Amino acid sequence: MTRRIVANPASSNRIRVIFDHEDSTVEAALESVDGLAADSRAELIEATSELSQLIGLEKVKAFIYEIYALLIIYKKRQALGLKTADQVLHMIFKGNPGTGKTTVARLLGKIFNKMGVLSKGHLIEVERADLVGEYIGHTALKTREHVKKALGGILFIDEAYSLARGGEKDFGKEAIDTLVKSMEDHKNEFILILAGYSAEMDQFLLMNPGLPSRFPIQLMFEDYSVEQLMEIAHQMLRQREYRMSPAAAEKMRQHLIQQVRTPFHSFSNARYIRNMIEKAIRRQAVRLLSAHTLDKDVLMTLESSDYQFGEQDR
Ligand SMILES: Nc1ncnc2c1ncn2[C@@H]1O[C@H](COP(=O)(O)OP(=O)(O)OP(=O)(O)O)[C@@H](O)[C@H]1O
Ligand SMILES: [Mg+2]
Repeated sequence: MTRRIVANPASSNRIRVIFDHEDSTVEAALESVDGLAADSRAELIEATSELSQLIGLEKVKAFIYEIYALLIIYKKRQALGLKTADQVLHMIFKGNPGTGKTTVARLLGKIFNKMGVLSKGHLIEVERADLVGEYIGHTALKTREHVKKALGGILFIDEAYSLARGGEKDFGKEAIDTLVKSMEDHKNEFILILAGYSAEMDQFLLMNPGLPSRFPIQLMFEDYSVEQLMEIAHQMLRQREYRMSPAAAEKMRQHLIQQVRTPFHSFSNARYIRNMIEKAIRRQAVRLLSAHTLDKDVLMTLESSDYQFGEQDR
């Protein structure tokens, strides 16, 4: 992929990166970056290739490459004594369960670490119960503790809207205030990502008008299509050195079509696929215990009888 970096006429301080798909290597882009040590170059290629391997998520990927290109260009600008603006990298991730939010956050940590934005790049994942305490002052203490653990990396708050659940008197508000203060006290030392369902996160931001400007980056993680879910299934199987017979794949596809069509039920996207595959692998093992031949092909193949779908499979 070659990148053309053009000024966006709509806003003078924004740079847009356009991707041409003929050349899909990150190497090409990194080749020309001076001052990037060979080992960190290799690690960066690895970290971004993990991101490229994720199925779908096109908007998320395009955005991350944009940031990444910007950081590379800033290094070049700095080397030539040109100005670079401070980037605020705190983010909101919106999306349903199993759409890849935690996975992308973990990869971002690695990428930003290789880019020199984060000194460690680890991910600390917390939820309301980890931050909110039981008495006055307890919440600030607990929240600060997690911020401290996240320094040099990413603090990822799942179902962040639940912090505003109890209104003004709730300790959740104290957690939000403490987080906002920590973002100022530890500017550039960690990245805060707030994640949750789209509608709830929108509501949460409306109720906390000081927040949107502190989180200039909002990424939407869309539900996967049946085709994408099938691709994810094939990829997960390949990674485990399994595959499925055409009949098994068709059975899975028909089941998924039904699942995504059923309104108002919580379908956990790629996590559902992972659970489905792990269950099928266990059933195959039981089936194979009484099999006569156990050659490589038999050991690797999931048959349609290995997929059994019950009501609880959501
Ligand atoms: N695009 C993708 N390609 C391949 N695998 C994926 C993709 N998205 C998610 N997965 C896999 O699905 C599983 C669930 O993903 P993840 O935990 O990142 O979802 P999430 O959005 O954080 O869910 P939740 O909101 O429930 O925490 C993981 O095993 C992950 O590797
Ligand atoms: Mg998650």
